[in-house]
Amino acid sequence: MAVVLEAKNLTKKYGDVIAVDNVSLSVEKGSLFGLLGPNGSGKTTMIKMLTGQTRPTGGSATVLGLDVVQDPIGVRERVGIIPEQETPPSFLTATEYLDFVGEVRKIPDVQKKADWWFDFLEFGDKRDVLCKDLSRGTRQKLMFTQAFLHNPTLALIDEPLINFDPIMQRKVKDYLADYAKSGNTIFISTHILAIAEEICTGFAILHKGKLLHTGTVAELTAQGQHLDDFFLALVRKDDHA
Ligand SMILES: Nc1ncnc2c1ncn2[C@@H]1O[C@H](COP(=O)(O)OP(=O)(O)OP(=O)(O)O)[C@@H](O)[C@H]1O
Ligand SMILES: [Mg+2]
Repeated sequence: MAVVLEAKNLTKKYGDVIAVDNVSLSVEKGSLFGLLGPNGSGKTTMIKMLTGQTRPTGGSATVLGLDVVQDPIGVRERVGIIPEQETPPSFLTATEYLDFVGEVRKIPDVQKKADWWFDFLEFGDKRDVLCKDLSRGTRQKLMFTQAFLHNPTLALIDEPLINFDPIMQRKVKDYLADYAKSGNTIFISTHILAIAEEICTGFAILHKGKLLHTGTVAELTAQGQHLDDFFLALVRKDDHA
């Protein structure tokens, strides 16, 4: 299987804080990969490095064959991204924002594609509302739309489901799983271990910037283990190490 994302000894220091410490991992095409870890373990910093939003202080990474340090713009052009807690610009309507994304990404028929998303995520009635007046979940629907509007072969999403109600969670989980099954790759960070267990194929656990484990959910299931028990035991053990 082709590797679409590879980190080698990736490290990020902020002054004395080592946010990500020597992490190596690879993600294969067609995976739905979950980056798991307690608060402050380095998930968002990993995603920022992998999407050219912040420069590593050590190690290297390639995404879709591009070096994230040498060609961060090339990476950002190709992938879909939803950064942590990002919201669309307050001063644009949902439609205006998607037009803007369409122009920047040179997406043909952007209105037709936007219409599909308005319908799928059930927020067409909000298309002409300024983003500042949208509910948190609706803003997340719009962020989702902008990430997938150009049909990226790889999307990186920091906490995809946290703002969605159960109905939308179901829809988006199914969408992500199908998107990966059709040969694209999804890389998410999440705290919701039940969701990770349900939809992720591969996963990694970070703790205090270090990689504690990488594996597949299928392996755990075959051992009769649940992801939340596995996660808690591993992190507690590392805390007492
Ligand atoms: N811009 C920054 N400047 C200084 N320290 C930072 C910066 N960004 C992150 N950190 C620190 O790096 C560490 C990892 O943070 P990060 O946001 O990557 O964690 P996380 O796993 O995404 O946490 P959460 O689950 O709470 O979202 C934390 O100690 C954090 O305080
Ligand atoms: Mg985070």
